Amino acid sequence: VVSRVMFSSKTDQHSTPLDFFMELDAEFGFDVDVCALESNAKCNVYFGPDHWDPAHRDGLERPWSTYGRADKAHAAVCWMNPPYGRTIGLWMQKALDESRKGATVVCLVPERTDTRWWHETVIAGGAEVRFVRGRLKFGSAKHAAPFPSAVVIFRPPESA
Ligand SMILES: C[S@@+](CC[C@H](N)C(=O)[O-])C[C@H]1O[C@@H](n2cnc3c(N)ncnc32)[C@H](O)[C@@H]1O
Repeated sequence: VVSRVMFSSKTDQHSTPLDFFMELDAEFGFDVDVCALESNAKCNVYFGPDHWDPAHRDGLERPWSTYGRADKAHAAVCWMNPPYGRTIGLWMQKALDESRKGATVVCLVPERTDTRWWHETVIAGGAEVRFVRGRLKFGSAKHAAPFPSAVVIFRPPESA
């Protein structure tokens, strides 16, 4: 058994409040949670470091747009609440890239409009931004987060 501790860095585990996710899921109908653990995955199909299939352990290395359900005419609709540390820019770039391949990617990220990643992905990609009112309480946290959040939506070019 691989230790859970190995997968949990503080900045990594901002598990989405369920009611917040459910509302977005009702609107978008997510096919795949692209960064998760088995314990916090929001979709049956997920990528994460504890996945039983080694090929599904690194979401940054997987194609996303091909994960749409077989009965759907469109590419995958992806949920992405990425690790909030240094790799966040890589995740946002991947989200933008996958949307250009046909995926719809809905991201929950800290609202950091001064960062390089925000400018190079959210702004440069012309994404829709929904600023979250108030502060979210992630996972089992007692207190609300010390930072504001935003939902960023990258859509495929043809739907723009
Ligand atoms: C902010 S949490 C989001 C958890 C959950 N998907 C949710 O929305 O509540 C980010 C997750 O990304 C996972 N993660 C870290 N690196 C990853 C990688 N390379 N591929 C897939 N998942 C990764 C972490 O283990 C963590 O569970």
